[in-house]
Amino acid sequence: MARRKKIYEGKAKILYEGPEPGTIVQYFKDDATAFNAKKKDVIEGKGVLNNRLSEFFMTGLNQIGVPTHFIKRLNMREQLVKSCEIVPLEVIVRNYAAGTMTQRLGIEEGTQLPRPIVEYCLKNDDLGDPLVTEEHIAAFGWASQQDMDDILSLALRVNDFLSGVMLAVGIRLVDFKIEIGRIYDGDFMRLIIADEISPDSCRLWDIETGEKLDKDVFRRDLGSLTDAYTEVANRLGVMPKNSGQFSKPTLIN
Ligand code: CDP
Repeated sequence: MARRKKIYEGKAKILYEGPEPGTIVQYFKDDATAFNAKKKDVIEGKGVLNNRLSEFFMTGLNQIGVPTHFIKRLNMREQLVKSCEIVPLEVIVRNYAAGTMTQRLGIEEGTQLPRPIVEYCLKNDDLGDPLVTEEHIAAFGWASQQDMDDILSLALRVNDFLSGVMLAVGIRLVDFKIEIGRIYDGDFMRLIIADEISPDSCRLWDIETGEKLDKDVFRRDLGSLTDAYTEVANRLGVMPKNSGQFSKPTLIN
């Protein structure tokens, strides 16, 4: 098989040129990083779980009319997605206080927020993804006012969808991050949900016990990350219980 052209390699994923123009193959690695890549490890199976979980969430969003870049899953570690121009912002939605919000504002972790709060950070690892305001975004032209209205409404729709899906399996959606892409249909530009939605980019707590089922398990050394992600996948009915249940053998290159 001809080697595909690598477009970009990030901390947790590799992007390859897709089979048709306008498509990209997104490969999920097992690498875990935290604290702006100061902490690193390889967690066997994480990529497989995140590929499945992101497929599950993106498919659900597509079905309720929230556009995403997801086209189809190709195999255990890869999915075909629409190529898009990434808006250089990390869009964070918070329902309960955690992470940087607790540090910045001194709010106790787990405090329910009066309403979902949306924050924007500039996508820039060298600067540690700093929090920015809509004033910065408009002044520096990272997104227009119309884009920001659309991004806010997309973010809140994703929050409602994910919160509901999680609540149904006894998990609290504390916060999450999404990335937004632009795609062009001729002169017409549309914003879609891009990147991934997985326990790498969400905070998920068991409603009964408060147990953390997300990347904080890795950040804070709270146990096995694969066990936590497998628990999320099992509750959502996303992963076959064991690889013996796959209907077809998977070709290993
Ligand atoms: O996670 P951290 O404490 O560094 O930052 P945060 O601002 O509290 O993160 C809010 C949510 O966005 C968490 O669910 C993070 O996992 C997620 N996030 C992410 O996926 N990628 C980033 N670069 C920053 C935050």
